[in-house]
Amino acid sequence: MAERVLVTGGAGFIGSHIVDALIERGHTVRVYDNLSPQVHGPEAKIPAYLSAEAEFIKGDVRDIDGLRRALDGIDVVFHEAAAVGVGQSMYQIREYTEVNTLGVANLLELLATGDHTVRKIIVASSMSIYGEGAYRHRDGHMVNPGLRPTAQLSAGQWDMLDPDDRSVLEAVPTPESKPLQPTSVYAVNKRDHEEMVLCVGSAYGIEAVALRYFNVYGPRQALSNPYTGVMAIFSARLLNGAAPIIFEDGLQTRDFVHVSDIVHANLLAMERDTGPTAVFNLGTGRATSILEISGRLADLLGVEAEPELTGQFRAGDIRSCVAEISHAHEVLGYEPQMPLEQGLTDLISWVQGQSAEDNVERAIEELRSRGLTS
Ligand code: UD1
Repeated sequence: MAERVLVTGGAGFIGSHIVDALIERGHTVRVYDNLSPQVHGPEAKIPAYLSAEAEFIKGDVRDIDGLRRALDGIDVVFHEAAAVGVGQSMYQIREYTEVNTLGVANLLELLATGDHTVRKIIVASSMSIYGEGAYRHRDGHMVNPGLRPTAQLSAGQWDMLDPDDRSVLEAVPTPESKPLQPTSVYAVNKRDHEEMVLCVGSAYGIEAVALRYFNVYGPRQALSNPYTGVMAIFSARLLNGAAPIIFEDGLQTRDFVHVSDIVHANLLAMERDTGPTAVFNLGTGRATSILEISGRLADLLGVEAEPELTGQFRAGDIRSCVAEISHAHEVLGYEPQMPLEQGLTDLISWVQGQSAEDNVERAIEELRSRGLTS
């Protein structure tokens, strides 16, 4: 059945791909997006990739009246709008909390009035709310460690150590049940997103789903935004002939998931019966090191640039977090389809058609001046 769908942040990287998939399935789509200059450039133009078949409303989630208009006649909301720079969130604390936490508060307050037609809300949550992922001790017991102490990192000891006997722990897939330990203001905001949507949705009988995205990559990532993920950052540098700058020893791992798999899961979350509230990890279940990413991207772009291993580290960075995806598989039928190699080729064929300003060193200097990298 065709539904009327609102995608907040629908001009952004993930949101715009959700818009395309919805239109392809015959749904009626409205986008609400403020065209943030950090993402869309100083002129804040509607991006060329945004489907002309979607209704576009320029608006900010901090503007409750704009949101009220955007919600008119809507059945399903995908809330993708957010300020997403983890490092930046540690100094633009008010701005991040206003856009993220108060933004979702506005949306939910409108839903709480009852004067709406929304049956389901699906919110973009994040693996960042876990902090470190799950680990196993060599004797087999599970450990949920906090961040590695700064003194350990300053000494160049990058592995995750057991807090009791200091043995090296092995990273294992992280289930949804792992206790949440957000380590940045952005992550605290994302936890707010998730908890507020689930709590208000369940109180008012609106089905609520939180999707915990792992490290999403793919075409339309904002390459010139130095506060976005490592794939976009490395691509922008390589495109400008510069070597990637690698923190720690490059052996830290992440679960990189292609945007097409994330989009597919969002549609499943809309279509399937997920009960009153539900939370799902969305990744691939596979770990890849940052060094491997840097090497593969350089190869694909044909740039001979040895990565710069600085031995520095960023405040709040985790060593590893990989998704345990069996819950999404069982309830949604989610199965990641895009192998890393093919996904990277897809990313690169898009990157090659782009020009990107390399703002990375400026961003690192900004963190350094605030004591957030050393
Ligand atoms: C963080 C968030 C995640 C968010 C993502 C993109 C956490 C735990 N997770 O992920 O929710 O989606 O940012 O905003 O906060 N790196 C380099 N060189 C660089 C840039 C990064 O070596 O120039 C390394 C980092 O030190 C890190 C890894 O690459 O070890 C991944 O970094 P990044 O892409 O920023 O993502 P996360 O920190 O995993």
